[in-house]
Amino acid sequence: MKFFLDTANLDELRRGTAWGIVDGVTTNPSLIAKEGKPLEEHIREICGIIDGDISAEVVATTSPEMIGEGRKLAKIHRNVVVKCPLTRDGIVATKELASEGIRVNVTLCFSANQALIAAKAGAYIISPFVGRVDDIGWTGMDLVRDILQIYRNYGYKTQVLAASLRSPTHVSQAALAGSHIATMPFKVLDMLFNHPLTDKGLDQFMKDWNKAFHPGPAAG
Ligand code: E4P
Repeated sequence: MKFFLDTANLDELRRGTAWGIVDGVTTNPSLIAKEGKPLEEHIREICGIIDGDISAEVVATTSPEMIGEGRKLAKIHRNVVVKCPLTRDGIVATKELASEGIRVNVTLCFSANQALIAAKAGAYIISPFVGRVDDIGWTGMDLVRDILQIYRNYGYKTQVLAASLRSPTHVSQAALAGSHIATMPFKVLDMLFNHPLTDKGLDQFMKDWNKAFHPGPAAG
């Protein structure tokens, strides 16, 4: 499963990349707005940090404008994947952009039928929002499982990207479901490393090693 970072913060992206396990980045208008820099300039900087798929979202709401924005975003760098929302206009734009060879990540997916529509329009990636489904009292990961099954039934090539992940448990559940990609905030990626028995085990190894090979001065 590919790991994407769900952030537009350059410091977090640099720290995550240094670990060598980050395959791409997802951004959205809220994440870009937090950083306070123009979209194109910011996406260019992100492309300079991570060599992988970088999702950049259109902010227009009509299909002709989305298509125009999508073409501009795709020209920033070969790794840019254009993100379109799962609306009627977004799907029209997806179909057109895909027909031009531009890769589209269809975002804000909350149902299996929406994911089916995105695949039919030629989406490169579908982004079901797991955490936001959990927030309304349903089980977000069921959505990921359903989409994967439906895509398998018909041989769709659209990759499933489990989005809106809030915890390490979400990440392992996405992997168990067979999601192609999981995108997560930096904090969640960082938490994936942690286990108290790893810390305890390492501490013991170091104590035993130092006792045998670097004993302190004898008492008295
Ligand atoms: C995905 O591409 C979105 O940017 C993201 O996962 C949304 O997550 P949130 O629900 O935590 O805002």
